[in-house]
Amino acid sequence: MSSDLEKFFQKVEELKPTFKTRLGDAIKIQSVSDVDLKRQMATSLKSQINDLGGDLDLHEFDNPPGLPPLVIGQYPKEWDKSKKTIVVYGHYDVQPADDGDKWKHPPPFELTEGVREVDQKKCYFGRGSTDDKGPVVSWINMLEAYQKANIDLPVNLRFLFEGMEESGSTGLPEFIKSDDGKKLFENADAGVISDNYWLGTTTPCLTYGLRGIVYFSITVSGPAWELHSGLFGGTVYEPMTDLIALLSTLVDSQGKILIPDLSHDVEPLTQEEIDSYKGIDYTMQDLYTATGSKTAIYDDPTATLMARWRYPSLSIHGIEGAYSGPDTKTSIAPKVTGKFSIRTVPKMTVEDISTMVRDHLDREWKKLHSKNTYSFKVNDAGETWRTKPDHPNFEAASRATNTVWGKKPDLTREGGSIPVSLNIQEGLGTDSEGNPKSLVLLPVGTANDGAHGPDESIPIENYVNGAKVLGAYLYEVANEKGVVE
Ligand code: BES
Ligand code: ZN
Repeated sequence: MSSDLEKFFQKVEELKPTFKTRLGDAIKIQSVSDVDLKRQMATSLKSQINDLGGDLDLHEFDNPPGLPPLVIGQYPKEWDKSKKTIVVYGHYDVQPADDGDKWKHPPPFELTEGVREVDQKKCYFGRGSTDDKGPVVSWINMLEAYQKANIDLPVNLRFLFEGMEESGSTGLPEFIKSDDGKKLFENADAGVISDNYWLGTTTPCLTYGLRGIVYFSITVSGPAWELHSGLFGGTVYEPMTDLIALLSTLVDSQGKILIPDLSHDVEPLTQEEIDSYKGIDYTMQDLYTATGSKTAIYDDPTATLMARWRYPSLSIHGIEGAYSGPDTKTSIAPKVTGKFSIRTVPKMTVEDISTMVRDHLDREWKKLHSKNTYSFKVNDAGETWRTKPDHPNFEAASRATNTVWGKKPDLTREGGSIPVSLNIQEGLGTDSEGNPKSLVLLPVGTANDGAHGPDESIPIENYVNGAKVLGAYLYEVANEKGVVE
């Protein structure tokens, strides 16, 4: 290992208490939906990076209004044209945590330390610890360690942190295409996102594909107000009955999507792809542990990974307006909204899928012959993304991961979505040979971190090593021939 990297790793170890404080401060800011709190989080990221020598700004959106700002700019202040330029994306918004009573390490918006039950890892608990505040502040940890070790950052960085990822990244695709957006990507050599997780808890991974998402809602309205089912049951068309009928035409209990033609564009499975699953460290037990159950549809890890990475899925998330309390309430709800989403895979597009779903629901609605009214909406969407992992950018990330963890990372795809991944890929553009510039997903957290759930956590070792991996990646990418010529 180079002496610079050794010095840097040493500094990371020394700074562990500071890193803990930094994550705790970030978790405390409840950047869930309140724009002022989100702005507070954005300002804190900006100031911290600028205090370390960056030149970051808040970018406010004017259209649509009311959005939290982007944190954008470069590090260090002066762009050094002899060095490579890497674009870093992350998000500082987090999921809600209204389920404080379900947290074994409460409260959700305070960093707590403990051992998590599922895998006995020593962890930091708190909303955002792994998705995505932990990884985002790991970038700052990394910068601080480089600076305090008196080592020049070997590349130029361009930061792009947003506060709307968990709500579909409103405004960001347009920003990336705007002049300010183009400036951020100008002369960039590659991109890196740390917003996903290892497949298990023992082998790191690098990720080269994500599913897209289209999130729908259907609303059925009927009576003008809530009715007593004793007086009106059997006499009026009930919105809930209609909604359940519609929802039940979407997917069967084996996870098979029932919308005709929806899976037409799924790429055929090749031998090469089948082979690519062979060496991956993933067992059924990983799924059982991560879900706390043995409710797997497939008994085989490869079939499970394929279902998660390369096939679409449809999940029904909830019904708004329906009574969900414990009492035996006998009312008829006047208006109910069902929510579901489809995870898309290459070659499916948001536009095609939206049309297919709309047509399908229109057909099914007609079959009901109901006098209720029904409406349909696409709430959020993001396209699927995939790149080629046999690229110097991935090789740099792989060497960095191996140096820190002593293990070569698996090359994986993922089932979750980062709505702007394809926009970022497009923002990076192509190299002089016309090949897309490379975007790598370099995760910090693990499979059992429980992103979005109660007791979200990140193993302390992963959090600390996160700074090392990101720093080693920049070191490797800088010494890599071939990312740019
Ligand atoms: N960090 C996740 C994305 C992710 C999830 C990557 C699982 C790999 C595996 C991200 O913050 C997220 O949750 N995205 C949402 C986007 C949606 C709300 C538009 C998702 O995937 O549900
Ligand atoms: Zn998330």
